[in-house]
Amino acid sequence: MSSFEAVIDAGGVVLFPSDTVYGLACDPGSQAAIDRLYALKRRPPEKAAAVMFFELEAALQALTELGPRTRQALRALMPGAVTALVPNPAERFALSARADPQTLGLRVISVPQLAGVSVPVLQSSANLSGGADARRLSEVAPAIRAGADLVIDGGELPGVASTIVDLRAYEAEGAWSVRRRGAVDEDELARRLGGRFRFDPASYGAMVADTLPGYDELQAQVALAAGGGARTILDLGIGTGEAAARLLEQNPRALVTGVDESPAMLAAAAERLGESLAGSHVGQLQDTLPAGRFEVVVSVLAVHHLDPLEKARLFREVRERLAPGGRFVLGDVVVPERPEDAVVDLTAGYDQPSSVAEQLDWLREARLEPALHWAERDLAVIVAKLV
Ligand SMILES: C[S@@+](CC[C@H](N)C(=O)[O-])C[C@H]1O[C@@H](n2cnc3c(N)ncnc32)[C@H](O)[C@@H]1O
Repeated sequence: MSSFEAVIDAGGVVLFPSDTVYGLACDPGSQAAIDRLYALKRRPPEKAAAVMFFELEAALQALTELGPRTRQALRALMPGAVTALVPNPAERFALSARADPQTLGLRVISVPQLAGVSVPVLQSSANLSGGADARRLSEVAPAIRAGADLVIDGGELPGVASTIVDLRAYEAEGAWSVRRRGAVDEDELARRLGGRFRFDPASYGAMVADTLPGYDELQAQVALAAGGGARTILDLGIGTGEAAARLLEQNPRALVTGVDESPAMLAAAAERLGESLAGSHVGQLQDTLPAGRFEVVVSVLAVHHLDPLEKARLFREVRERLAPGGRFVLGDVVVPERPEDAVVDLTAGYDQPSSVAEQLDWLREARLEPALHWAERDLAVIVAKLV
């Protein structure tokens, strides 16, 4: 246990360097510790404080109720100089929330002095309530420095407090708003939460041509692996229907059911595929898949947006959707064996590729019989059949 964790565990208050300004931290589960922290900085007791983690995965694991979209937003923003307001239906960390226990202020930072800290803390900036933020230890009020049980010097910090972004409507509506301006400006938030999170059907073709030189070959290999003679196809992350259109060339009598989180992409697929698109479902691959049994389940360049647990879960769902003799064809960007083969331009947080070996394992765990059909650098096509 680090000295930081030991002091927190014992109910103490730590003065520490964050990625923005100096902060005060204590055990979020201890009323006595919180009272001390509030008293030190003379913070009015009715004001809420954020809970801080030092590792994003620890935060995501602690907040199991967060939906898949919100989790993706947090991956795009954190660690970083952002405090996210997220829904907290389980009223976790209730002592930090004050009047509104259904809302949690969440902060995740990565600073060298606190690397490896595994406990969350309640935190607030190390200034007297209403006073200026401290960029250096010397700027922290003497009474706060003297009252802290542990003082960690991180040198000079950026000095601008975190941006508070409200993500409480993000899961249902994709909506977000800035509650306090700070270190990360609104354009940067929009870039991370907006543009990059939505594929635009009008620019999709040009975008893949630019960023994915192997795209045509990947699609050709997916079609080859899918084969002919199918009457029912489920396309996961159908986008504008590129993979589905190619599959229909060799399965002309097939009916396609498409799933995509983007209504705009699904609309483009509907226009392109016409009557061959028998069903279109706006939804997440992390949710329950459309009912039915399909001879081919296909997914091209969509599953890598899921984290490992979500991928393993999806593969189990896919198994339940396969008709007898059916196959799952997965064409996607992967983590290659040789780092120099990682050539696809990825967005941290949004793109989460796994290796071929991991995905073969998860497919086997889902009681499918997978085989690698094709791979080139960081693109691969895996075929998994019902055992
Ligand atoms: C790179 S495009 C691929 C589209 C198409 N499969 C193709 O081969 O051209 C990824 C598609 O997956 C969708 N998508 C990304 N993450 C998703 C998720 N978690 N659930 C459902 N759809 C998702 C996007 O909206 C987008 O249409």
